[in-house]
Parts: sequence; structure tokens; C-alpha cells
Amino acid sequence: MKEVITLLVILISASFVAGNCPLDQMHAIGLCSYRIVCINTIKDVKLHSDCQGSSNYDVKVDVTLQNASETFHIGADPEFLAMITTLTVHGNWPRTDLSFLEDMYRLRNLYIVNNNIQQIITNDIEQSGPFRNLVSIEVIDLSHNQISNIGELFQFEIRPSSMQSISLAYNSIVEVPGDTFGELSSLIELDLSHNFIRELREEPFCNLTHLKTLRLNNNKIKYLNGALKNLYNLRHLYLTSNQIQKIDMESINTINHLETFDISKNLIEKIDPTLFPRHWKHFNNGTICKILLSDNYITHVPNVSIEIAERFRRNSITPKLAYTKLDLSNNSITHIEYNAFSLLELKSVDLSNNKLTDFIVNPKDLIYVRYLNLSGNYLNRLYYESFSSMHSLQNFDLSHNYMEYFPDQSLSNTQNLKYVNLTFNDILELHSLRITFHPEGGYLDLSNNGLSALIIPDNEAIGLRELVLSHNNISDAYLIRLTDQHDLTRLDMSYNYILELDESSLQLPEKLGVLDLSFNDIYRIAPSAFNRMSNLKTLRLSHNNLKIIDHGVFRGLTSLLNLDLSFNQIGQLDSKVFMDLQYLSLLSLRHNGLNVLDSDGWLSYKQDLTVYLDGNNLSCQWLAKALTDFSRGYSKMNPTVLETVMVGTSIQGIPCEQEVQNYEKPKYLADERLLIVSQKILEAVQEQTSLMKRFMWHAILHEAEQRNARNVSRFYFR
Ligand SMILES: *[C@@H]1O[C@H](CO)[C@@H](O)[C@H](O)[C@H]1NC(C)=O
Ligand SMILES: *[C@@H]1O[C@H](CO)[C@@H](O)[C@H](O)[C@H]1NC(C)=O
Ligand SMILES: *[C@@H]1O[C@H](CO)[C@@H](O)[C@H](O)[C@H]1NC(C)=O
Ligand SMILES: *[C@@H]1O[C@H](CO)[C@@H](O)[C@H](O)[C@H]1NC(C)=O
Ligand SMILES: *[C@@H]1O[C@H](CO)[C@@H](O)[C@H](O)[C@H]1NC(C)=O
Ligand SMILES: *[C@@H]1O[C@H](CO)[C@@H](O)[C@H](O)[C@H]1NC(C)=O
Ligand SMILES: *[C@@H]1O[C@H](CO)[C@@H](O)[C@H](O)[C@H]1NC(C)=O
Ligand SMILES: *[C@@H]1O[C@H](CO)[C@@H](O)[C@H](O)[C@H]1NC(C)=O
Ligand SMILES: *[C@@H]1O[C@H](CO)[C@@H](O)[C@H](O)[C@H]1NC(C)=O
Repeated sequence: MKEVITLLVILISASFVAGNCPLDQMHAIGLCSYRIVCINTIKDVKLHSDCQGSSNYDVKVDVTLQNASETFHIGADPEFLAMITTLTVHGNWPRTDLSFLEDMYRLRNLYIVNNNIQQIITNDIEQSGPFRNLVSIEVIDLSHNQISNIGELFQFEIRPSSMQSISLAYNSIVEVPGDTFGELSSLIELDLSHNFIRELREEPFCNLTHLKTLRLNNNKIKYLNGALKNLYNLRHLYLTSNQIQKIDMESINTINHLETFDISKNLIEKIDPTLFPRHWKHFNNGTICKILLSDNYITHVPNVSIEIAERFRRNSITPKLAYTKLDLSNNSITHIEYNAFSLLELKSVDLSNNKLTDFIVNPKDLIYVRYLNLSGNYLNRLYYESFSSMHSLQNFDLSHNYMEYFPDQSLSNTQNLKYVNLTFNDILELHSLRITFHPEGGYLDLSNNGLSALIIPDNEAIGLRELVLSHNNISDAYLIRLTDQHDLTRLDMSYNYILELDESSLQLPEKLGVLDLSFNDIYRIAPSAFNRMSNLKTLRLSHNNLKIIDHGVFRGLTSLLNLDLSFNQIGQLDSKVFMDLQYLSLLSLRHNGLNVLDSDGWLSYKQDLTVYLDGNNLSCQWLAKALTDFSRGYSKMNPTVLETVMVGTSIQGIPCEQEVQNYEKPKYLADERLLIVSQKILEAVQEQTSLMKRFMWHAILHEAEQRNARNVSRFYFR
């Protein structure tokens, strides 16, 4: 704290003239550590005297210069320029010699990004590249320019032994001359991506023996030409989006540590099995190597031959494990040989979007597989043996295939499944599902099949927590029998053809928390249809054909928080149908064309209930009262909309209809007294046992109906 205050004092007491480097843009971020933003040129900045010259402190001066001309240094204080350690300059310099770098011998990081540079002028006779004096330089970023000639650029008077990273990404480089990086043997990262490089040669890279990351992606490279042979320490090689047809194995095999080998989006048709094995003993235990070959033209994955297997045999005395993540997606693979994956210790295999009709590989090679993606193939069966040792499998995607059954036999040895995806297959019925999910619970997607029946007996699909059955052919909900699925908490049955629900339709477990029945054709729900679902928190019934909600429909939903009845045709609604829903906090009635909403049932409601009313036809009188009651705290019911409207009549953005003269009141509103009486009776009934309740309910309703009829006739025909 004391240091910070001292520094602030130092900063303020130093006599700055707020000119090109405004004072409020200067920040001391540590002892002798500054961050300064200047415009056009660097002027009138003075550091504290302790931080100047050959200071005892580690002086860090980070300058960002906006809108600079390339001669901004002329007239600037050379002593200050010499103090800069990090420089970011923005300007427009089509042709430049970067002469401002001449005296910046303390510079460590240089960013000249997006400055429209087309040419950097160098004088190759005098070996006068613009960076020649930068003895401390660590990072040079020249990305997003239009530089094409990099020949003499990186020449130095003294070898820059701290140089770590160079980026020339997004330029116009076509050729990398032989001696370009010859002096940069300390380089760790080199980015040449997004250029127009056609040819690679060994020379430019031969001294980069410390290089760990090389980005050559998005160029026009056809052949590797052994260019990478000397990059003994390379860990990450990016060659994606080039025009490589054949992988030059000699070049790759010398790289002992290659962890990322990305050669996706090229023109490879054949792969050599020696591509896969690595010098495993060079890796740390648990390293995951990535081999990315997606988006090529591979048709066939050959065996790793016995000789190669011998050559790369793992060190069995110290059982270190380096795993492999293999991506072969988006190829045209029709065949994988039995021993194709030997010695790989696959952790993750992506074979999606290929042309596989079978997946028969040595099960020993799949022991560690956690992720297997076979989506988008032509599979209509799974070969049991291949899966027999896959004890680690967690994420299995078999979507977009031609399976007519659920491959539970193949998956019977897995105990750790978390995601199983079989969407877009041809399964019509399932009467068992003998698999066990991960102890933390599993997610199964069976959407977009032709399923009309699914029965999961007790002790099957153990651990199934979420089940997606949307876009199937379910017309009778009773054929979805999941009562013994004790772990199931979410069920999605949207986009099916369910017409009605009665007391026995939903054969679902008690623990279910979320049920989605939206986008069906439900026109009728009988009382007690959700009777056993006492844990349900969210119920979606939107986009159905409901016109009437009878009393008792939502009976038993004592935990329900969210109810979505939007996009139905419910014209009139009585809040007393929600009587059991004592925790309801969100009710959507959007787009029903609702004329009448009797909210009296909510008068004694204990907590806030938000009711969405977009796209309805409620009277402004009703709405005004409901809004006033809510704002005054008389009622907990908050009428609102998701999207406020500006056209037509509305209150607070909620649309409503002006009361028309001679508006016919609906019958059950006719007699206020009757309403109050029945409300009282109903409340009393609530205390009764459920059997009593049901009995009395009918009696009361019957009586009330008769009285109502009498009263109505009296009211109208008096
Ligand atoms: C940028 O610099 C030029 C002269 O170099 C000047 O004309 C222009 O106004 C400056 N723009 C800004 C935003 O400072
Ligand atoms: C590589 O470095 C050596 C010195 O270590 C030097 O003699 C040689 O010229 C360099 N190679 C290239 C291609 O610049
Ligand atoms: C691949 O290896 C398996 C087992 O060693 C062998 O049966 C099969 O014939 C081999 N395939 C080819 C094409 O060599
Ligand atoms: C490597 O890690 C695994 C677990 O990740 C462990 O069982 C094994 O003993 C480790 N091997 C060595 C040599 O450390
Ligand atoms: C596979 O190809 C499709 C379209 O051809 C593309 O959208 C997708 O990103 C590709 N997947 C990968 C992993 O490259
Ligand atoms: C499997 O691959 C497909 C296509 O490449 C992709 O869309 C899907 O997300 C992948 N599945 C998983 C679980 O990653
Ligand atoms: C299943 O795959 C489809 C597309 O292939 C994807 O949209 C869906 O989210 C996946 N489901 C799961 C549970 O990953
Ligand atoms: C859907 O189920 C009905 C019977 O409920 C059947 O007639 C129809 O063919 C099924 N449609 C498909 C696509 O399976
Ligand atoms: C409201 O009701 C009138 C007639 O009663 C009808 O013409 C109009 O379309 C309805 N508006 C909505 C949003 O349903």
C-alpha cells in the first residue's frame, strides 16, 4: 500500500505536460512499472529519477502509441525512447524502415499489428534489418499487415538470445527464404499462419531447435519437404487448411514430443500407420497427444504392422501413459482395420461424418476411450467385441446412423456413460435398456427416431437422469413407461403426437422435476393427469390445442414452480384450477386469445406469481385492476408480458381490449355471491383427504352448476 502511494506521488510530482501522452492515460502498475498511452507521438513523458538510466529497479515501460506516423521518434526524447520495454504502435505505413527502433535497445515486446505495412525496407549489404539493435527482444508481432518479403528482416548485430516468439500471421508471405530465422535458435513460437506460403524447405527452420509451437495453417503448402526434420523440440504443429496430399513421415518421425499434430483440412487420401505411434517415453505421464486429421479424403485406416508395433513398443518397466485424441471426422472412411489403433492408447476418437458400415477394431486398443463419436455414418449394428473393454466410455455419439435398436448389449460393460446420443436413427420401439450410467447420472438423447413405445423395466437404465424423446412418433403417452426410473429428473416429450392425457397416461417416476409436453396435439387433459408428480417443478404444455382447463387438472402438482400454457386456445381461465399449485411462481398464458381470466383464486396467494399475458384479449378494465392490486400489494399476481407492445390499446405495454358495450358476461361470473360461497367451500374442501375431496368436489360442482343455471336464467330473464 505504502509503495502505491509513493508511486502515485512520484507520478503526480513528476512534471508532465499533458500533451500527446495524457496524464490520465498513465498508470503506474508497480515500482518503476508504467503503462502509458500516447497519440501521434511520444512527448513530454518523464519517469521518476530512480527509474531512469541504468536503474537498480526492473524498469518496465509499456507504451501504446495511437495514430503514429513512422517518423514519430523524430523530436521525441531519445532517453525516454530508450527506456521503453513494450511498444504497441498503430499507424498506416505502407512502406517503412521502422527507424524508430534504432535506439530502443531495451525493447522486449514489439507489436506492430494491422498497420497496413506492405514493405519493410532493409539494407542487406550493411546487414541493417530494422531489429538489429534490439538485443533484449523477446516478442515481435507483425501480424495483420501485407508483408511479403521477410528475407533480411531478422538480422541482428548480436544474436537475440531471449527471442521467444515471432508472429507473421495474416500477411502476404509466399516464400520463406533459407536464412530468415537462422539467428533465432532461441525461438519457442513461430506463427506463419494465414499467408500464401507454397513451398517449405529444410533450411529456414533448421536452426529452430528450441521451437515448441509452429503455426503454418491456412497457407498453400503442398509438401513438407522434410522442413521439420530438425525441430526436435516441437510440441505443437498446425498445418490445417493447406494442400498437403501426403504426410512426409521422415519429417515427423524425428519429432519426439509432438503433442498437437493438426493436419485437418488438407488433401490427404492415404495415411501411413507410422503416423500414429510416438516416442512415448518422451512424454510426461498422462499427456494427451492430439492427432487431427478431419476434413481430408481418407478412405481407409490401415493396421499398425507388427514391425512398427515392435519398434515403438512401450516401455513396460515404467508404465508411463501418454494418451491420444484422434480426430478422423469428415473423411470418407469405409474401413478401419482391426489393429489400426494399436499402440495409440486412445482417449478420444472422432469418426463422425464418414462412411462406416461397421466398427470392428481390437477392443484392447479402446480400453481408455472416453469419447467416441460415430455420428453421421451408415451403422445399423454395433459389433459387441469392439466395445467389450470400453470401461471408460463417457460420451458416446451414435446420432445420424441407421440403428433400428438400442445397442445395449454392446454397452453392457460400460459403467461410466454420461452422454449417449442416438438422435436421428430408426428406432421404433424399445422394451428394455440394459445399461448403467455414470454414478453422477446420465443423459440419453433418443429424439428424431420413430419411437412410439418405450418401456424401461426396473433395474435397467440405472442412473438415467435426463431423457430426450422429442420429435418421435408418440401418440399415446401411456406407451412411455418409466415409472421405475428412479433417477430420472428431466423428460422431454415435445414434438410428438399426443392427443390427450388422462389419469393413467403418464407412467412417469415420482422424482421427475421437468416435463416437456410442448408441441404436441393435446386438446384434453383429464383431472388428476399429473396426480403422482409431486416433485415436478417445471411443466411445459405450450403449443398444444388446449381450449379448456378443467378443475382438478393440475391436482397433485404441489411443487410446481413454472407452468407454460402458452400458444394454446384457452379462451377462459379460472385461477382456481391452480389451487394445488401453492409454489407456482411463473405462469405463461401467452398467445391464447384469452378473454377472461378470473384471478380471484390467487387472492390469498402467499408469494409473487408472474403471469405472462402477451397475445391475449383481456379487458383493459380487468388488467387495470389486476395491475393496481399488484402494485398496492393486495394481490401477489403480477400481470406482465415478455415483449411489450406499442400498438393498439395497452397498459404498461400489456395489450388489452376496451370494454365493448353490452359485453356478455360469462356465465360463471354471473353471481358474485355464489362465487364467494363456493370459494369458501372449496377452501374447506382443500383440508379434506383426497378421497373425500374428490367425492365432495363432484357434489359441489354439480350443485353449483344447477344453482348457477337457475341464477343465470333469473339474472337474464327477470
Ligand atoms: C492522426 O494523425 C494525423 C497526422 O499524422 C492527423 O491529421 C489526424 O488528425 C490524427 N488523427 C487523430 C484521431 O488523432
Ligand atoms: C545456424 O546457426 C549457425 C550457428 O549456430 C550458423 O552458422 C548458421 O549459418 C545458421 N544457419 C542458417 C541457415 O542461418
Ligand atoms: C490387420 O491385423 C489383423 C490382426 O493382426 C489381421 O487379421 C488382418 O488381416 C490385418 N489386416 C491387413 C489388411 O493386413
Ligand atoms: C501414470 O499415471 C497413472 C494414473 O494417471 C498412474 O496409475 C501410474 O502409476 C503413473 N505412472 C507413472 C510412471 O507415474
Ligand atoms: C465437417 O464438415 C461440415 C460441413 O462439411 C462442417 O460444417 C464441420 O465443421 C466439419 N467438422 C469438422 C470437425 O471439421
Ligand atoms: C460428433 O460429431 C458431430 C459431427 O462432427 C458433431 O456435430 C457432434 O457434436 C459430435 N458429438 C459430440 C458429443 O461431440
Ligand atoms: C445429440 O446430437 C445432436 C446433433 O447430432 C445434438 O444437437 C444434440 O445436442 C446431441 N445431444 C446430446 C445430449 O449431446
Ligand atoms: C407412427 O405411428 C402410427 C401409429 O400410431 C403409425 O401408423 C405410423 O406409421 C407411424 N409413423 C412412423 C413414421 O413410424
Ligand atoms: C380479440 O377478440 C376479437 C373479437 O372478440 C378478435 O377479433 C381478435 O382477433 C382477438 N384478438 C386476439 C389477439 O386474439
